[in-house]
Amino acid sequence: MSINQNIKPITTKVNEKGNLEIGGCDLIELADKYSTPLYVVDEATLRGIAREYKKAFSKLENVKMTFASKALMTSAIAKILSQEGFGFDVVSGGEIFTVKNAGVDMKNTTFNGNNKTPDEINMALELGVGRISVDNFLELALLNEMAKSKNIVQKILLRITPGIECHTHEYIQTGHLDSKFGFDLTQLDEAIELILDEYKNLELMGLHAHIGSQIFETQVYYDEIGVILKEIKRIKDKFNIELKEINAGGGLGVTYTDEDCPPSVETIANVIIDSIEKHCSEYNLKKPVLYIEPGRSIVATAGVSLYTVGSSKQVPNGRKYIAVDGGMADNPRPSMYGAKYYAQIANKKEENEMKKVTVAGRFCESGDILIKDIELNNPQEGDILCVYNTGAYGYSMSSNYNCVLKPAMVLVNSAQSDIIIKRQTYDQLIQNDVIPDRI
Ligand code: LLP
Repeated sequence: MSINQNIKPITTKVNEKGNLEIGGCDLIELADKYSTPLYVVDEATLRGIAREYKKAFSKLENVKMTFASKALMTSAIAKILSQEGFGFDVVSGGEIFTVKNAGVDMKNTTFNGNNKTPDEINMALELGVGRISVDNFLELALLNEMAKSKNIVQKILLRITPGIECHTHEYIQTGHLDSKFGFDLTQLDEAIELILDEYKNLELMGLHAHIGSQIFETQVYYDEIGVILKEIKRIKDKFNIELKEINAGGGLGVTYTDEDCPPSVETIANVIIDSIEKHCSEYNLKKPVLYIEPGRSIVATAGVSLYTVGSSKQVPNGRKYIAVDGGMADNPRPSMYGAKYYAQIANKKEENEMKKVTVAGRFCESGDILIKDIELNNPQEGDILCVYNTGAYGYSMSSNYNCVLKPAMVLVNSAQSDIIIKRQTYDQLIQNDVIPDRI
């Protein structure tokens, strides 16, 4: 089974004390040592999925794996994925800075985004980001001008909207025509003319598309590659240039609950490879360098969140709520997207007292519900709740809502645990606050 098809990290088990264990570490001991809420990342799961990706795409001669940093960017995660041979999709100065800080070779990064600021573009050029995926005409002009002033010829891709709809949450669909991202196919030729005729400090390497996130269908990837290669063929015929690179984006889904059935990494890889082979032979093109940029499927399953159960409330003739010490600030996905998660009480082995409860967060909003109607093993105050599959878009989308401190993150492997993000402190919370003298 592919790791993205698992709900739990691959090292999860119940130990002799009857507690859940991940990466050889007892989750109750982790909660004691580091306090809760706590993000836990299993290194074996993370490296395991990275290796699955490499293996699945190894049939292609020329493929570049990049990790979509937006799913989880910390210096240690960047270092691990870089060791596994991944480059990085970065979308902000902050992601560029973090990746650089982790010692990543900036040639292996692609800078994406629909409204990159001049400062960020400047930073990307100064640090030698490998590819910039240009999203629109304004950026094209600005980037050329800035590259010219630095005497650089920047390698770029053009981000296109391939017009492919996938059946995922509306907020995370990106490839359909009415999207804020990328050039519409009808605008592509104008962009290419500008690059060829005027923008001499840009070197067009290829095309980039991304169709959405948490995708379970395979056909959409086949079609996406088909659209990109059809454009490359058209561009070859019209402009007499054969673009050498394609970037298929990310998007592969993961298994948050039993209801989710994403394809395996191998299946997706085979669909993409088949589509490249079929369309390259149909259009008589050389096989391009393929970039992929998965985010969620690399880090989601490796991560869990630990919480301590606090107060509870039985609504007369209604739901039983149990509240935990975290919620929408450390994992906004349930309240933003209606995302579902699976969880277990980490300190109770026997599943003989299963109770249907709703797990509420501690933030001051009725919508702060982490899991609606889940069977848990008789949850009581002081128990440790382990929510699975929180490695992607949890910490990276976290906030300080209600001035609650951001949790720590630990990396576990072979019974060892190491802090990779320290718990925020109250001093850090107000470190940028200024009280002007005049008030
Ligand atoms: N490449 C591009 C250009 C993207 O926009 C994205 C995600 C990815 C790659 C990585 O996609 P992934 O493999 O992670 O699906 N916050 C939302 C997800 C937003 C995804 C945005 N773009 C969530 O929590 O579901």
